[in-house]
Amino acid sequence: TDSLRLGVAGLGTVGGGLVRLLAAHADRLALRTGRRIEITAVSARDPAKDRGLGNALGGARWYADAVEMAADENVDLVVELIGGETVAKAAVEAALSRGKPVVTANKALLAHHGVALAAMAEKAGVALNFEAAVAGGIPVVKALREGLAGNRIEAVYGILNGTSNYILTSMAESGASFEDALAEAQKLGYAEADPSFDVDGVDAAHKLALLASLAFGAKIDFDAVHIEGIRRVSALDIAFARELGFRIKLVGTARSTGEGLDVRVHPVMIAEGSPLSHVDGVFNGVVVHGDFVDRMMFEGRGAGAGPTASAVMADIVDIALGVRLPLFGVPVEALSPARVMPVTAR
Ligand code: HSE
Repeated sequence: TDSLRLGVAGLGTVGGGLVRLLAAHADRLALRTGRRIEITAVSARDPAKDRGLGNALGGARWYADAVEMAADENVDLVVELIGGETVAKAAVEAALSRGKPVVTANKALLAHHGVALAAMAEKAGVALNFEAAVAGGIPVVKALREGLAGNRIEAVYGILNGTSNYILTSMAESGASFEDALAEAQKLGYAEADPSFDVDGVDAAHKLALLASLAFGAKIDFDAVHIEGIRRVSALDIAFARELGFRIKLVGTARSTGEGLDVRVHPVMIAEGSPLSHVDGVFNGVVVHGDFVDRMMFEGRGAGAGPTASAVMADIVDIALGVRLPLFGVPVEALSPARVMPVTAR
């Protein structure tokens, strides 16, 4: 069988998870795709660091520079797991400009540069897949792009950041302090390199912008998205909300209205018993309203090595099978320049 040779840029939590997943499932994935998926190159800042991966990387070639790795002629597909917008962007562009497909978990990159990168991928005729960028292991990108393609989407909203949901849940359930709960989430590999993205709502907003683009076939001006995080939510707020029968959750909402798109992230009081109120810990929950399918909810782990690697591999499998779909569900040309309503108009 012909092989699919991966170049993995970034060996942090998700990169490590991907190496383990492939070590565990290479045979079943070969049966499934008809191709042997193997890692032929990796890039990471410190090659000497012990990542607990044993011999799983075998003969893969090591690079200090992700852009150089992307150009390696023994790499067919670049998996970008570096994060951030500088090196990651250069590596993704290096791959696409050479006609290599890309799988990325990078929501910050796509929320800011998704349209330009989608245009590059279209021009090159290769896939740029990002299932792992939104809601960890939940296949919600596929759901919006494929499973719900028959619908006009009216709204998509949910709990999109595992770290902040873990913190709010720990504060409510075990009386943990904000700082201790955040430290724990970092230890478990849930938090971003810069955890202020998690607790200030920025990471949730990145994911929401991507969901809104997919749901509405629209370009989203990220800077117009209203963002408020959980730093000001106190233990007392949580306790009072509980007494009144509510949970406090960080929720991202994207809704189509007559005047434009309403896209925002902020803490919300959710009545106990409503579906999102039970999404606890590192779990994310995404609700979609489609005109024919009605309301649908997805729930699963929104962060962490295993769930995120699971989503990365789904994207790799698509490429192994030759599947290529427009990044935001419609060709770049057809994306509408939607207006994100200013917060005062809401
Ligand atoms: N830091 C993110 C979260 C990781 O906590 O949800 C998944 O994108």
